[in-house]
Amino acid sequence: MDTVTTETETGTLIVGAGEAGLGIAVALRNAGYTAPVTITGLEADPPYQRPPLSKEFLAGEMDEENLLLRADDFYQDKDLRLLTNAHIEDIVLDEDSAGGTATTSAGHAIHFDGLALATGASPRRLPVPGGDLDGVCYLRDIPDARRLRTLLPGATRVVVVGGGYIGLEAAAVARGRGLDVTVVETFDRLLQRVAAPPISEFFRTAHEKRGAKVLLGASVTALRGSAGSVSGVELSDGMVLPADLVIIGIGVEPRIELAQKLGLDCGRGIIVDDAARTSNPAIVAAGDCTMQPHPLYPTESICLESVQNAADQAKVAAASLMDGPRPERAVPWFWSNQADIRLQIAGLSMGFDDYVIRGEPGTEQFTVLYYRDGRLIAADAVNNPHDFMAVKRALAKGATIDPTDAHNTGLPLKTLIREI
Ligand code: NAI
Repeated sequence: MDTVTTETETGTLIVGAGEAGLGIAVALRNAGYTAPVTITGLEADPPYQRPPLSKEFLAGEMDEENLLLRADDFYQDKDLRLLTNAHIEDIVLDEDSAGGTATTSAGHAIHFDGLALATGASPRRLPVPGGDLDGVCYLRDIPDARRLRTLLPGATRVVVVGGGYIGLEAAAVARGRGLDVTVVETFDRLLQRVAAPPISEFFRTAHEKRGAKVLLGASVTALRGSAGSVSGVELSDGMVLPADLVIIGIGVEPRIELAQKLGLDCGRGIIVDDAARTSNPAIVAAGDCTMQPHPLYPTESICLESVQNAADQAKVAAASLMDGPRPERAVPWFWSNQADIRLQIAGLSMGFDDYVIRGEPGTEQFTVLYYRDGRLIAADAVNNPHDFMAVKRALAKGATIDPTDAHNTGLPLKTLIREI
């Protein structure tokens, strides 16, 4: 894209004001892009961090202003036009250029000559009767978290539906307040989407040890109510768990409607290449809305739902919009805080055929290293930041850690990194 501002230039439209959307805007400015940049967000709040919503913010340890990714004056300083409460309903592309016109549901037209989609994901809804009762909550955005923070002090019995990150982090906060907490998970283990069995087992034990109940292989058939408020959670075996607060965290659905309207190829998410270009190469996409062949895992097309991916992919998308050099992609990493347990994940363990447990899970400080064809692909480190850093470093340089020595906690992992 031409970076010279002209009278007629309409600039770049970024649909989505989350971590990825703001990241694209910042990366454009950092690369010297001087044309107008408009960021539109569905939400009333300016771009903010989501990870604390289910951790420090929910626990009352963090204020709302600390959630914001940037202070108000940043947008002025960088000359970024931020439109909140703005739902882009339709986009019509010009016939002969990368530009077009977007229309908001309020009827405003936004002309652009470069387009980026960072539309994120919506929480999956639990499709059972009773879902609209008072006291049934999701946890994805600031209004959700505000509401939950208000309801927690008056609650006594909390049922958490979904044993993924959101469910377990929220369960830890509720249990930390001394509430009666039950986690209901459909699969036969916790965190099945993101972690391997030894980690799932560890978290089940850890939550039970802290007083929560964990029901695995259990499915919810209805939410029962009394006078408009939730009073219980009915399971398929007929059991009813009494509840005055139900927190639902059963995954997300990438928002792909606009991409589909634009005729872009989509699977579960918007399909992009390793340059964050969609099937229309003039349009880029980044963050939770995308499916990508990650350069470190080129044979897989994956949805990487993480802050780090949103931030890194945003830089790649901005570089593609400007036809600039493509930034290196980092090793994927994730984290989760549950009570006093900090899980740090480096790499992607999917497709592993072997693993080594380093340390004793019972001590709540250990690491699981995952291998495929004898080669290190990922690690889950529990309260073990040194192991996490060593594995991240090894993966970044395409090295491995010999599985025969990896279990030996007397040897620092960083000393076991071997070139392949
Ligand atoms: P998730 O996909 O991580 O976990 C959802 C869990 O709910 C799965 O274990 C699934 O088997 C279970 N489930 C699905 N349907 C169910 C049902 N009907 N009844 C009971 N269990 C059911 O999604 P989650 O936890 O909702 O998180 C949403 C998003 O936020 C994800 O993209 C996640 O990666 C992200 N997130 C990341 C965090 C982190 O990196 N620490 C923290 C919180 C959220």
